[in-house]
Amino acid sequence: MTAIGIHDLEMATGHHVVDLAELAESTGVAPGKYILGLGQSQMSVLAPDEDIVTMGAAAAKPLLERNGTEGLRTLLFATESGVDQSKAAGVAVLDLLGLPSNIRVVEMKQACYGGTAALQAAVGIVARSPQERVLVITSDNARYELDSPGEPTQGAGAVAFLVSADPAVLEIEPASGISTTDVDDFWRPNDSTTAVVDGHLSVGAYLDALTDAWNDLQAHGGPSVEDIDRILYHQPYTKMAKKAQQRLREITGGQISTALNPGDEPDGRDTGLETSSRYNRRLGNSYTASVYSALVSLLDYDPGLEGRRIGIFSYGSGCVSEFLTGIVKPGYLERRNPHRSENLLDAREPVDIPTYRSLHTAPHGTSEDQVTPRVTSGPFRFAGVTGRARRYETC
Ligand code: HMG
Repeated sequence: MTAIGIHDLEMATGHHVVDLAELAESTGVAPGKYILGLGQSQMSVLAPDEDIVTMGAAAAKPLLERNGTEGLRTLLFATESGVDQSKAAGVAVLDLLGLPSNIRVVEMKQACYGGTAALQAAVGIVARSPQERVLVITSDNARYELDSPGEPTQGAGAVAFLVSADPAVLEIEPASGISTTDVDDFWRPNDSTTAVVDGHLSVGAYLDALTDAWNDLQAHGGPSVEDIDRILYHQPYTKMAKKAQQRLREITGGQISTALNPGDEPDGRDTGLETSSRYNRRLGNSYTASVYSALVSLLDYDPGLEGRRIGIFSYGSGCVSEFLTGIVKPGYLERRNPHRSENLLDAREPVDIPTYRSLHTAPHGTSEDQVTPRVTSGPFRFAGVTGRARRYETC
């Protein structure tokens, strides 16, 4: 059977960054709650001329520059912060990247799980037509109400990846475990620009979904925990990954370490909890992109992955989840350079809390005609709205 999986991948984020210790101090919360209690140090915040399209195109650009566009016939854009109810955000990306018209473009949504749905759909397309490649873009802007418990778990980011036959980075294995349950833990109604969330219910729903998806993986011939070398989790905040690892340890009896923070004493086998959370600790929640940012982080900082099996737990509130696995290909390090993503995170412009709050409360996603101020340092910008349609341009 032809190996199919992720051939290459790239990350992008927004122009601004908020320091979570500053956010805590501004609201009288002990900074330790955010830094250690949630495992977050920063969160990305978008400039007025950025959105899921500009971040998604920014992530995809270097990927296509490195790998070309041959065989590209599908672009799947996964997001839960869509900018239009009808048109797929990927259509604007196609234009910004100068891609040809013989590419089918569609948007996929199921909270943070959408990227994994896109990955599995891409694997199916390539299985049928191995000469084709699929561009998957996961891109999200996580927004909760100001002064709500969810506020420190906001963030923004995108990860783009190419799915192909004979992939150079990660071969996706056929068995996976799936769990879907109708639960109102988190959602965003059509008339709201911020998520509605029952935070503690969402943590329980996530952990129960992990148990179900794991059991389903076992029922479908998936590997035991001992046969998985590294494990990635959706990271709405990095402490959630630690909770997930604790749950997996309980249900499997596997001696896997739950040490999350740099310098924490391992209490079992290291499965990459700390290494895979380095970027998300600084990005915040990037929803669909979160588990793939964890993958980028692991690939960037773990030089010993060749031939290793990675478990990936993808969770999207509402809730749909999947536990899948993949094998890292020899030579994957040739495609990775930690400085690329570190530089991206370091280059963000810090904003103080009053500025962040005014960015948050500024009209968001309206279709009124407008011209946006020129702020972003990214390669593409959201230029404004004319005739109720969003306009994008190359910087
Ligand atoms: P909260 O209720 O304000 O926080 O909100 P808490 O009281 O539960 O405290 C959080 C942790 O900080 C606790 O640790 C405290 O002990 C600790 P834990 O018991 O969890 O291990 N703490 C401290 N630690 C050190 N020093 C201190 C200190 N004080 C307290 N001084 C909550 C937390 C996560 C509920 C909130 O931020 C929230 O609602 N977030 C949004 C929802 C969310 O992220 N849910 C995660 C699961 S659902 C999911 O992942 C899907 C999602 O990504 C959406 C999608 O799928 O599209 C969200």
